[in-house]
Order: sequence, then structure tokens, then C-alpha cells
Amino acid sequence: MQYFQSVFSKFRGRNRQRTAGMALGLPATPFTFMAHLLGIAGVVLVLVWNINFRGGLAWESSNKTLIFNIHPVLMVIGLIIIGGEAIISYKSIPLKKEVKKLIHLVLHAIALILGIIGIYTAFKFHNESGIANLYSLHSWLGIGVISLYAIQWIYGFVIFFYPGGSGSLKRESLPWHVFLGLFVYVLAVGTAALGFLEKLTFLESSGLEKYGTEAFLVNFTAIITILFGAFVVLSALSQAPSDDDYAPI
Ligand code: HEM
Repeated sequence: MQYFQSVFSKFRGRNRQRTAGMALGLPATPFTFMAHLLGIAGVVLVLVWNINFRGGLAWESSNKTLIFNIHPVLMVIGLIIIGGEAIISYKSIPLKKEVKKLIHLVLHAIALILGIIGIYTAFKFHNESGIANLYSLHSWLGIGVISLYAIQWIYGFVIFFYPGGSGSLKRESLPWHVFLGLFVYVLAVGTAALGFLEKLTFLESSGLEKYGTEAFLVNFTAIITILFGAFVVLSALSQAPSDDDYAPI
């Protein structure tokens, strides 16, 4: 608690001069710190659920649910947690602008690749089990999320990194890049919450105890995922730790 208070008071003074373009006039450090903690909790919970409770992960198996289990693990660790860390990297890493930009785009690339593989495993599971594809709201939103994420990454790469747009194009694109990035991210967190709900509903309809340990674990993992998302958005709308640090918002 004292840590948070001291960080807040340290930044409050300098905040007043720098909040003009800032959505929130708060220092990002306490929020990025909370996001890292929740991210670690999310990784542990999703792995414990799928390895200890759901029987583990497999790319090839006669037990097709082991193929499915890769889906939540890669979506949560990849798209949500590594994607969230990519968003807050401008606020959590005390390095120069060019290095932060590189870290931002590489982490997003990893998140996108893991997300694509994660979605592929859901299709692989359906196809090998004779289950229809793309029948749920979760799956429709999921396709929307991964498509927008890819478009956002490619546009960001071309305009802000290589070959790079003119100064005015970069300036005009930045608010849209920030808005669309946060929009897609919040949609991804909502889609993941729907995924947890859907899987738990399937399990409960096939006999899983409604108030049992696993049901609590799944709901709790979903809540941690949503809280992680909230701290990512808070961090993005707050202020980078150092005055000379570059931060897009
Ligand atoms: C942002 C993260 C996520 C995205 C973008 C996403 C995307 C998708 C997509 C596109 C499908 C359709 C596959 C098909 O039709 O063959 C799917 C299926 C599924 N996903 Fe996710 N998913 C995400 C996270 C999760 C999580 C965390 C869970 C939790 C267990 C989950 C559970 C399911 C289930 C049960 C299915 C099969 C039923 C259905 O097609 O709706 N998903 N997902």
C-alpha cells in the first residue's frame, strides 16, 4: 500500500504539467505492476486447469479434447497476456523510444502468431471430432478479433516501423492506432470470457459439478483475465514513469 502511495505522490506534481494529452492524469507504474502480477496468475491458472484438471495438451491424440486444451492455453497466454504486455510495454519498460517500439511490435507479433495457432487448434479439434465450425457468438467474435488484430499489426508495422509513413501520416494515424488497438484488445478479453463460459457450460451439461473445484477454477481464471485486461487499459491511459520517456498516449 505504501509503495502505491509513494509512487502516486511522486508523480502527482509532474503530472499536472503533462496531463494535457493524457486520458488519465495518473502514473502508470502501479497499474503495470498489478497487470504483471495478474498476468502471472493468469498463466498459472490456465495451465493448472488444462494440465491438472483437463488431462493435458496434445497436438496429435486419439483423445481429441487434449487437442482442444491447447486453444484456451494459447489464447490466454498469447493473445491476452503477451498481447497485453505488448500494449503496456510503452509504460512499463524504461528504455528509448526505438527500443520500446521494437519490443511492442515483437510482443504483438508473438501474441498474434500464438493466437492464430490457438484458433487453428479449435478448428483442428472440431474437424477431427466431426463437430461443426463457427456456430457460436464466441467463434464469430474470435474471427473478428484475430482479423482486426492482424490488420492492426500490419498497418502499424508499415506506418510506424518499415518503410514508415510521413510525419503527418504517423501523427494522424496514431490516435486511430491507439483507439483500434484498445478496442480490439477489450473485444479479445470479452471473447475469452465467452469462451470460458461456453466451455464450462459444455462441461456442466455433461455432468461436471456446478459448485465443484473445477467450476470455481474456470470462473476464477476468467475473472483474473478480465482484471488483467482492466489493468492493461488503465496502464495504457496513464502516464509513463519518466519525463523523457516516449509514450504514444
Ligand atoms: C481472445 C481469445 C479467443 C479467441 C479469439 C477465440 C476464438 C475461437 C474461434 C474462432 C473458435 C471457433 C473454432 C471453430 O469453429 O472450429 C473458438 C472455439 C472455441 N473456443 Fe475460443 N477463442 C478464444 C479464447 C477462448 C478461451 C479462453 C476459451 C476457454 C475455454 C475458449 C473456448 C472455446 C470453445 C469451447 C470453442 C468451441 C465451441 C465454439 O466454436 O464456440 N476460447 N474460439
